[in-house]
Amino acid sequence: MKAIILAGGSGSRLFPVTQVVNKHLLPIYNKPMIYYPLSVVMLLGIREVLLVVNPQDLEMFRKLFGDGTELGMRIDYCIQEKPRGLAEGLILGEKFIGDDTVCYMLGDNIFYGHSLVKVLKEAKEDVEKYGGAYVFGYYVRDPERFGVVEIDDQGKVVSIEEKPKNPKSNYAVVGLYFYDKEAVDIAKKVKPSRRGELEITSVNQAYLRKGKLKVKLLGRGFAWFDAGTYDSFLEAGEFVATLESKTGLMIGCIEEIAYRNGWIDDKKLLDLAERLNQTDYGRYLRTLVEQS
Ligand code: TTP
Repeated sequence: MKAIILAGGSGSRLFPVTQVVNKHLLPIYNKPMIYYPLSVVMLLGIREVLLVVNPQDLEMFRKLFGDGTELGMRIDYCIQEKPRGLAEGLILGEKFIGDDTVCYMLGDNIFYGHSLVKVLKEAKEDVEKYGGAYVFGYYVRDPERFGVVEIDDQGKVVSIEEKPKNPKSNYAVVGLYFYDKEAVDIAKKVKPSRRGELEITSVNQAYLRKGKLKVKLLGRGFAWFDAGTYDSFLEAGEFVATLESKTGLMIGCIEEIAYRNGWIDDKKLLDLAERLNQTDYGRYLRTLVEQS
């Protein structure tokens, strides 16, 4: 499986902060926002990633990640000329996906949970084996702001709707999806919605009509943030700060994950730590080598 992370968009809910700075490069506590979705992809063992970015931001992302070699990965970039909607990344990623399956992530979504990797891996393996699509539901109080999934008592998807006025459940569809390669052709057929965007919910609805959409719920043990508003942005930062200080472990530390995955060695990790000078982040990376 490969991964596509969407890091374009207009970020208008964070204006004026994001008028000239890309949202995904802003810090969530001690690291850029984009580290968090990238770390999830890495925890799933996915080494090939396509970042979808706005034309004016390409060089910044390239400066940050290069071609991914420093993390023992391959990171490619693809320009989205205009924010035409979440489903467009699938069309732009056609060549990259090829005959493979894809983990499709929104660059402003932050996940944390004890068994997160286990739950996601089960869904990933299901799509790799049987095809189709997997989405994840998270209980929220304001479902009308999100894509909403309705589920029957067998755990099957009944309906999925984008920002419904009268939501059929309280389960928001989070910004992490697994698809087989059919997603590209499905996305190509999607028509712009009333707000003029190619909606990812339309892709998911097409899978549902084919009987190929599965869902898992992320329950009490999980935290999910769509860090695209002032409040959720701040809340996500406070959450990471609190958790890191209580546990002494970092969340979304891409260098650590690359190291633990065996994608980079001691020397490389120390080299990466060196560039971070005498920060707590750099010290944390050095400690990983000392403890191993
Ligand atoms: P959204 O939060 O839906 O949109 P946005 O980031 O443009 O912000 P706002 O609503 O405040 O204007 O996007 C979800 C994620 O997907 C986010 O990480 C940006 C990314 N994205 C793209 O890469 N391309 C797009 O066309 C859109 C709409 C979003």
